[in-house]
Amino acid sequence: MPLNWIDVQNLDFYHLLFLERHHLMWFAKSHSKDKVLAIALKAHPEVLWYFKRLLPEAAEVFENMAGSVSPDLSGEEIRRAEIEVMRSINDWMVYVVDPAIYDRLEFTRWDDSELTDFVDFSGRRVVDIGAGTGRLSFVAASRGATVYAVEPVRTLRDYLKRKAETIGYKRFYVVDGLIEEIPFEDDFADIVISGHVFGDFPDREYGEMVRVVRNGGDIVLFPGNNDTDNEIHDFLAGKGFGWGRFEEPGTGFVRKYRLKVEKRSL
Ligand SMILES: C[S@@+](CC[C@H](N)C(=O)[O-])C[C@H]1O[C@@H](n2cnc3c(N)ncnc32)[C@H](O)[C@@H]1O
Repeated sequence: MPLNWIDVQNLDFYHLLFLERHHLMWFAKSHSKDKVLAIALKAHPEVLWYFKRLLPEAAEVFENMAGSVSPDLSGEEIRRAEIEVMRSINDWMVYVVDPAIYDRLEFTRWDDSELTDFVDFSGRRVVDIGAGTGRLSFVAASRGATVYAVEPVRTLRDYLKRKAETIGYKRFYVVDGLIEEIPFEDDFADIVISGHVFGDFPDREYGEMVRVVRNGGDIVLFPGNNDTDNEIHDFLAGKGFGWGRFEEPGTGFVRKYRLKVEKRSL
C-alpha cells in the first residue's frame, strides 16, 4: 500500500534534485519501464541531467526512458505523471521536503523503554544505521551513549545535526553511509542499532553489522516488519537473534531483535 505521509499534489518536481544515489539505483533497477517516470524525465531535462550525473552507470537507462516518450505532451499529462512519481516515493519526498513530518507520524510514538529495556546504552559507543530523523539515535544519546548516526540522505543528516545541536548533545556524530557498506572499521562499536532499514540484502547487511560490532557487543534491530514469521524473521532467528513484540501506535504489534555477537565462535 502506498504511503500517505505527505500530500504531493502541490509539490514541485524539482525536489527530486535532492535524491541520492541509492534512490536513483532503485529507479534504474525497478522502474526502467515506468511510463510516468519516463514522461516526467522527458519534461524535466535538468532532473534527467542530475540523474545521469549522479548515477553515470545508469545514464543510458534514464536517457532511453526519456527518449521513449513523445515530445508532444500536454501540461496536464506531465503534471499527472509528476504527481504519480512523487506519490510512489512518498517517504523520500518527506525526507527531502520536511523531515519533521516523519517525527509527527503516529507509528513513531512507541515507548522509549522498548529500546532502553532491551539494551543498556550508558557509556557505550553506538552506531545507528539508517538513522532517519533519529528516532533510535536520540534515545541512545539520552541514555549516555556516544552516537554515530549513519544516514545516506543529506537532508536527513542536516536535520539530525540541527536536532542534536538544539538538544545540546556533544557526543553525537552524523555520518553518510549505507547498511551494505558501513563506514567504520572492524569492531568499532559496542552496539549497532537500526530501525526500519534491515532486509533488502540480509546476508550482506548482517555481515556488515557483525563486522562493525566488537566481540561481546550487541546488534539491536527494530526492522518494522509485522508480527509474523516472515523471511526477515526467519533469517534473524536463524542467526540466533532473540526477539520480542511491542506496539507501534496505529500500526499494531511489530518485532524487535537482539543478538549478542560472539565473534570467536563465528
Ligand atoms: C523508515 S526510515 C527509519 C528511520 C529511523 N531508523 C526510524 O526507525 O525511525 C528509513 C531510513 O533508512 C535510510 N536508508 C534507506 N536505505 C538505506 C540503506 N541502504 N542503508 C542505510 N540507510 C538507509 C533512509 O534514508 C531513512 O532515513
